[in-house]
Amino acid sequence: MDLKGKAALVTGATSGIGLAIAESLARAGVRLVISGRRAELLAAHAKRLPQCIAIPGEITDAAYANDLFARAVQHCDGLDIVVNNAGRVATGSIDEIDIDTVCAMVRVNVEAAFRIAHLAVKHFRARAKGHLINTGSVLGTKVRASIGAYAGTKHAVEALSEALRLELAGTGIRITTVEPGLVRTDLHRDIAKKAGVLPDVAEPLTPEDVARSVMFALDQPPHVNIPRIMLLPRDQVI
Ligand SMILES: NC(=O)c1ccc[n+]([C@@H]2O[C@H](COP(=O)([O-])OP(=O)(O)OC[C@H]3O[C@@H](n4cnc5c(N)ncnc54)[C@H](OP(=O)(O)O)[C@@H]3O)[C@@H](O)[C@H]2O)c1
Repeated sequence: MDLKGKAALVTGATSGIGLAIAESLARAGVRLVISGRRAELLAAHAKRLPQCIAIPGEITDAAYANDLFARAVQHCDGLDIVVNNAGRVATGSIDEIDIDTVCAMVRVNVEAAFRIAHLAVKHFRARAKGHLINTGSVLGTKVRASIGAYAGTKHAVEALSEALRLELAGTGIRITTVEPGLVRTDLHRDIAKKAGVLPDVAEPLTPEDVARSVMFALDQPPHVNIPRIMLLPRDQVI
């Protein structure tokens, strides 16, 4: 499939998986709109990547999310791909976890992800085509102690993706959920020092490993849909 000239919105593109996906899409000749809160960093990525603009903001702010989507559609004259990737993590046992941090995570991983999916599907409906990529997690299908709330948010993404796949059959719209295991990114910067929280894996995935899976899902003929891709570090026990 030739992605050249297609247009994509990537959320959570300031770092990690979203940035690697944006870079892969840019290499394939896709026109890009990227989102994240760190405005200077996002602008630097947009300057470096061809055919890319940055629209920074807080994804849980409904006004920003709606405006981001509208401006992306207008700038690109329609979107072919939406990568719904912004996310954060909160961990800890029920005794130690901070409930307000959990709620803030739910707002990003569930509320904002559902909002972006809703906007994307409405837009794709009008065009009778489009591909929504949701960043889930291996923890959208499994659970570990002390990370139940995060796993819950990713289970929600799985449920929405699967329901959308059923609802949208026959419309020309494709939904793919990518489900990585441990990836070396900024996501764990606050928890990496806590003993026993992260899986004991000698060699985690890289953001580029995940981006390759996303490109595989996008690079399929129109009659093929890849609903889910789970990828794990070879030695991750989960
Ligand atoms: N790393 C892993 O092991 C792993 C495994 C499975 C799934 N995932 C999922 O992969 C996705 C990307 O995470 P990552 O690992 O690449 O971590 P990351 O480098 O921390 O990226 C997270 C991205 O989300 C954006 N973001 C977070 N909160 C936001 C908010 N309130 N408003 C706007 N943007 C926000 C961040 O941008 P700003 O900081 O600039 O706002 C950043 O670009 C997440 O959905 C995560 O759950 C990660």
